[in-house]
Amino acid sequence: MDTFHTVPDMTAWSGQQAAAGSRIALVPTMGYFHEGHLRLMRMAARHADRVVVSLFVNPTQFGPGEDLDRYPRDIERDTRLAAGEGVDVLFVPDAAAMYPDGFQTVVSVNGLSRFLCGASRPGHFAGVTTVVCKLFHIVRPHCAVFGEKDFQQLAVIRRMVDDLNMGIEIIGHPIVREPDGLAMSSRNTYLDESLRPSALSLYGAIRLARELAAAGIVSEPELRRRVQEYIGSFPETEIDYVAFVNDRSLETADPVDRATVLALAVRVGGRVRLIDNGYLFPGTAG
Ligand code: PAJ
Repeated sequence: MDTFHTVPDMTAWSGQQAAAGSRIALVPTMGYFHEGHLRLMRMAARHADRVVVSLFVNPTQFGPGEDLDRYPRDIERDTRLAAGEGVDVLFVPDAAAMYPDGFQTVVSVNGLSRFLCGASRPGHFAGVTTVVCKLFHIVRPHCAVFGEKDFQQLAVIRRMVDDLNMGIEIIGHPIVREPDGLAMSSRNTYLDESLRPSALSLYGAIRLARELAAAGIVSEPELRRRVQEYIGSFPETEIDYVAFVNDRSLETADPVDRATVLALAVRVGGRVRLIDNGYLFPGTAG
């Protein structure tokens, strides 16, 4: 596996691959790999001849007071894990390579970025779409893999690719969970064991909402109230949002239906913000 730190090195490699007729898949990440990241890499390998993984903790998608400085990093371990997955290139630019002096362009998906996480993290999605757009131009992939764990991020990126005719196939990967149901996240390292039951309230809430919907409760206010009550019954939980939304428009669904996703963001133990989501009627939507 090669590791490139500069934009010219990365772009030159991609140019050679494309000239040789190889199909390139990109998996954008912020590192500190867990099984979820590794599964995305495996899926990328099934869709392309060459796999590039980018590792960049993108400062522009963190708001003031968020966890940019303490975001977990372990480049040696990440290098080992990516190599073990047969990744061809790990692209690890630094902030100066991505945002040189004079940088001033922003790529922003206006509508979809306003809901859910966009409401509580202003500017977050503009940071994501700008860096992903840059990575697409630097790596020039034919396809790119993103996790459904970040459901809104995936919707926003699909919109950007369509709106700007980027011609890159966007592949979604299902959420990868711990055996107890907690969605894997690099940020789970912030959780100490005492917070685990509260962290599990997100997946518990999705299961509860599925049971209620299966029993015929389709009123959004009623479902929202029951889910809020359930999460609130766990210690040290503070709800950021509980939203039943259409999977494409991200607008509130009432009554809920087969295209409805329950999206959750909950702060646990004061400073750990967790997100999770799932279709209300699993296996039948899409
Ligand atoms: P990061 O949080 O490192 O996630 C990288 C990719 O892994 C994203 O597509 C995310 O959805 C996916 N992922 C994370 N946890 C997952 C899980 N439990 N199951 C399935 N997929 C999972 O998302 C980002 O980085 C950044 O915003 C990025 C797109 C790299 C732009 O900076």
